[in-house]
Amino acid sequence: MNRIAGNTAEQSADPTQLTRMTVNGETVEREVSVRMLLSDFLRHELGLTGTHVGCEHGVCGACTVMINGRSGRSCLTFAVQADGADIRTIESVADENGDLHTLQEAFRDCHALQCGYCTPGMIMNILSHLEADDEIDLSDEGIRELLSGNLCRCTGYANIIKAVRQAADTGNWNRT
Ligand code: FES
Ligand code: FES
Repeated sequence: MNRIAGNTAEQSADPTQLTRMTVNGETVEREVSVRMLLSDFLRHELGLTGTHVGCEHGVCGACTVMINGRSGRSCLTFAVQADGADIRTIESVADENGDLHTLQEAFRDCHALQCGYCTPGMIMNILSHLEADDEIDLSDEGIRELLSGNLCRCTGYANIIKAVRQAADTGNWNRT
């Protein structure tokens, strides 16, 4: 029998909990391990693989989603902690016809991505501030501060800064 520190594998099985939340406007309900991360819940339970996972300890921002309207690290949130929450992922940002959101168009226009791994997290972070009508300092320094929780290993950030400014300048970013 497989024994670890005196416990059988059966004894050490994770407890589970029925968890319900709204994801991109739809109610979802699953019985999940209490240790399951929200990022894994979105990717593996719901197939929403636009939420990326980089460091899995809160540093890179690739896993950023909106939790009750504010940006949050889905790798630092257990799925059960999101019980009852309203979650939005990158899959909700383009409209139902596949037309890109103004912010996504700005990223495309300004060449603000290369491999794109960081992009969903960047978009969800920026969008949460735009939609909440937060006062955003649109100087280079202010936008760098806004993006300081999202790491990009490809672009050097200059074009991302341009994209944020372009999107904010349109004043048309509040489309959902
Ligand atoms: S994967 Fe969550 S912050 Fe890096
Ligand atoms: S575009 Fe590659 S990590 Fe940002």
